[in-house]
Amino acid sequence: MSKDFIKPSSFHVAIIMDGNGRWATSRGLPRIDGHRRGVKALEKTIEAAPSFEISDLTVYAFSSDNWRRPDVEVGALMSLFRQYLEREVEECAAKGVRLSFIGRRDRLAKALVQMIQHAEAKTASGRKLHLRVAIDYSSRDTLLQAARKIADGSDWSRERMAACLPSPNVDLLIRTAGEQRLSDFLLWESAYAEFVFLDVLWPDFGRADLHNAVDVYKARTRKFGALPAA
Ligand code: IPE
Ligand code: IPE
Ligand code: MG
Repeated sequence: MSKDFIKPSSFHVAIIMDGNGRWATSRGLPRIDGHRRGVKALEKTIEAAPSFEISDLTVYAFSSDNWRRPDVEVGALMSLFRQYLEREVEECAAKGVRLSFIGRRDRLAKALVQMIQHAEAKTASGRKLHLRVAIDYSSRDTLLQAARKIADGSDWSRERMAACLPSPNVDLLIRTAGEQRLSDFLLWESAYAEFVFLDVLWPDFGRADLHNAVDVYKARTRKFGALPAA
């Protein structure tokens, strides 16, 4: 039997939060204002997630390819991550939100890495929601790293591979801003994910959009290659 069947207790939603730049430029604002509003949209999403029985939420905040953006935008994003951590870690801990970060850390500023480590330690016992934030993340690099880890042993199973990945299988993958691609996000983990693409730009994303995406997901039939249940 396929191992992809969902555990009833877990519901993993992944979000490619796209469209911050377009949100800002369409208003004649600098792109960073869009990123700032994007953080607000993320906060609202985290708040709303448990009411849709989402146990795991993984969000794409900065891809390894995003280093190719201009230095000022990269710098502004990095300072937004620091500000977010400064502001929200206590709140996450109080609300039972466990924070984890996935992606490379060796190219991040030391101060940010320390804040990440502090945030992970401080929120480790959170059980209401497991929020994974992908920063300097590339799924292909993550898979290579996992393959390197298992290369020495004899266990080349799917299970061993999955155990070496920092995120569980995705049930629902949402991408905003009308784009329909993965951009190197959770390639293995999305093997049987349901995809919902929304035209809304990420800074405008709210509880109603999450509700809508979850409803679309619930109306789908997940078969994992088998026939639908009679
Ligand atoms: C997503 O918004 C946030 C990051 C990639 C950091 P974008 O910045 O990609 O917004 P658009 O696609 O230019 O509108
Ligand atoms: C993907 O969005 C990365 C994040 C949302 C953080 P991009 O806007 O960077 O992706 P492409 O370049 O349009 O594929
Ligand atoms: Mg984009």
